[in-house]
Amino acid sequence: MCGIVAYIGPKEAYPILVKGLKRLEYRGYDSAGIALLNGDLSILKKEGKVSILEQFAADKDKHGTIGIGHTRWATHGVPCDRNAHPHLSNSGNLAIIHNGIIENYGALKTELEGRGYTFTSDTDTEVLLNLIEDIQKAENTSIEEAVRIALNEVVGAYAIVVIDKREPNKLVAARKGSPLVIGVGKDEFYVASDASPIIEYTKHVVYLNDEEFAVLNRNGVLDIKTLGNIQKSPYIQKLEMDLEKIEKGGYEHFMLKEIYEQPQVVLDCMRGRMNAEQGWIKLGGVSEFAGRINNAKRIIITACGTSWHSGLIAEYLIEELARIPVEVEYASEFRYRNPIVNEKDVLLAISQSGETADTLSAIQIAKDRQALIYGICNVIGSSIARASHAGSYTHAGPEIGVASTKAFTAQVTILTLMALQLAQSQGTISQSRLRQVLYEMETIPDKIRGALKTNDVIKEIAAKYKDAKNFLYLGRGLNFPIALEGALKLKEISYIHAEGYPAAEMKHGPIALIDENMPVVFIATNMSAHEKIVSNIQEVKARKGKIIAIVNEGDTIIKALADEVIEIPETDELLSPLVSIVPLQLLSYHIALMRGCNVDQPRNLAKSVTVE
Ligand code: F6R
Repeated sequence: MCGIVAYIGPKEAYPILVKGLKRLEYRGYDSAGIALLNGDLSILKKEGKVSILEQFAADKDKHGTIGIGHTRWATHGVPCDRNAHPHLSNSGNLAIIHNGIIENYGALKTELEGRGYTFTSDTDTEVLLNLIEDIQKAENTSIEEAVRIALNEVVGAYAIVVIDKREPNKLVAARKGSPLVIGVGKDEFYVASDASPIIEYTKHVVYLNDEEFAVLNRNGVLDIKTLGNIQKSPYIQKLEMDLEKIEKGGYEHFMLKEIYEQPQVVLDCMRGRMNAEQGWIKLGGVSEFAGRINNAKRIIITACGTSWHSGLIAEYLIEELARIPVEVEYASEFRYRNPIVNEKDVLLAISQSGETADTLSAIQIAKDRQALIYGICNVIGSSIARASHAGSYTHAGPEIGVASTKAFTAQVTILTLMALQLAQSQGTISQSRLRQVLYEMETIPDKIRGALKTNDVIKEIAAKYKDAKNFLYLGRGLNFPIALEGALKLKEISYIHAEGYPAAEMKHGPIALIDENMPVVFIATNMSAHEKIVSNIQEVKARKGKIIAIVNEGDTIIKALADEVIEIPETDELLSPLVSIVPLQLLSYHIALMRGCNVDQPRNLAKSVTVE
C-alpha cells in the first residue's frame, strides 16, 4: 500500500526522499510524488514508477532541506498525476502526504465546498488537508494544533505528514491504524511508513502509536502528544535491521533472493526455541501463557491471504498433535459476522506485515470479548505485534517481494513448533516421537536446499506451460493448503488464473475443466495418501490433463504417470509443507518472468494491506 517518507534537517531532502521512495516500492503503488520547501513549496508528482518521477524532476529545482515523499496505491480516484500525493491546500500554504482512508470525507468535502473550497483531485486526502487549513484559519492557530483538531473530526485510518510553508522548521506527523516510524538522527528527523527508507541513516527510531501526533523540529526536538493533547515522552528504540537485508544481494529479484533465503530463515526461526537431543521446545509466548493456551476451549486462527494458508496448516498440525479444536477464519469475514468468542478462546493472528487492517480489526473484536490474543508477525514492533497479549516473531528478515515466500515458511516453522509444544504439554505426543520430529526439523534447512536444486528442471517446465490460461493445484492433507498457496503465488505474479483444491474434491466439480490444455499440479509428497493421490492423477490423465507432480525423490509410481515430475527430498509428513512449497514458489517465479511480468511488484497488489 501507499508509502511515506519525509525529512527535516541540514541535508538536501530530495535525494533522501527519492531513495526512500525506491525502498518503499515493494509495498505496491501506482504514482509517486515529492514536495520540497525552499521558501516556496514545490510539488513534483507523476503517475507510474519512481523512475518516471525522477525523469520528470530532472530539470526542476529540487533544493530544500525539508520535504515529504509518497508512493500512492489508489483508493479514492484513479491513478493519475492529479490524484498523486503530495496535495496542496487551497491557499498553497500546506502540503500533505497520507496513507489510509478518511471514511467521512464526503460529508467534510460538502461542508468545505459550502465554505468556498475547491478540489483538484478525487482524493479524501485533499479534503483532510483543506479541513486542516480551514481550522487553522478559523482558530488562528499553529499547524500542529490545526492537525490535532482536524484529526479529532475525521473517521478512518491514516498516517500523515504535513508541511506548512510559513513554518519551515517543522514537520507534523500523525497516525491512526496505519504505521509510521520516526528516525532520529543528529539534529535531523526522518519519517517513514516502515524502517526501510531510514535504516541507512539511523538505527534509532520512535514508533508513533495510534492517535498520536509528532512535531519534528529542525533544532532536534521531537514533541509527541496524543490527539487528546496529552504529552508523551518519545521512546527511542534501536533497529535490528541490516541494510544488506533490504537489498538484492546479487539476485535478479527480491522474490528469488527470498526463496533462496529459506534454509537460513527456518534455521533462524528454530534457533534457541527447540533442542532435539534434550527433547524440548520453548516459544516464549506459549510458555508465558501456558495455562490459558493449554486450557483453551478452542484456538481460532485468523489471517488473510498467504498467512491464512499457514493458518490452515496450523489447524491440521494443532488438531493432529495437541488435540485442541482449531477454527481458521479469514479476518475479513470474522470481523463482520458477530462471532461467538469468549475468555476461553485463544485467537491466533498471523501476519507477515503485522499491519493488515482486517486482521487488526479481528483482533480487536476478540480482545473486546476477552480472548487471549497471540500474534505471529514478521515485522518487529508492528501494530499486530503490539495489539497482542503474547506472540512469536518469525524472524524472517524484511520481505520485499510483494508475493510472500520466506515469511510463509517462517510462519509454518513457528506454527509447527507451537503445535509440538502444545502437544508436549497436553501429553498427546510421546517423548520419543517428539524427539524424532525435532531431529527431522533440524534437517529441514538442508531439505529445502535440496528442493532448491530443482530450479533448472522447474525452469524447463515453466517454459513449456507459461502460456497456459489456467492451472489447477491439487493436494491432500497438509498438502491441500500448499496447493492453495501454490495457486495464489502463480496468480499473483504471472496473472494466470489458478485454483487450489483438495485433490478429492476435484470430482465434485473442477474435473469438468480438465482437457489437454489444463496443467494440473499435484503436490504428492505425503505417503499416507499416496495411493489416493495416484488415483486422482489417473483421473486427470484419463481426461488428457497435463500432470506436473511434486514427488519425493525416487517415487517411480508417479513418475511413470506424470508428464513432468519435480523430485524433492522426503521428510516427515508433518514437516512436508516446509519443503513442498519451494518448487511451487520457483514455478510461479519462472513462469512470471517468462511472461514478462514484474515479479517483485505485481500489478494492483500491495505488500501491507492497511485498508480493508
Ligand atoms: C500473498 C500475500 C498476501 C498476504 C496478505 C496478508 O503473497 O503476501 O496474500 O499474505 O495480504 O498479509 P499479512 O501477512 O501481512 O497480514
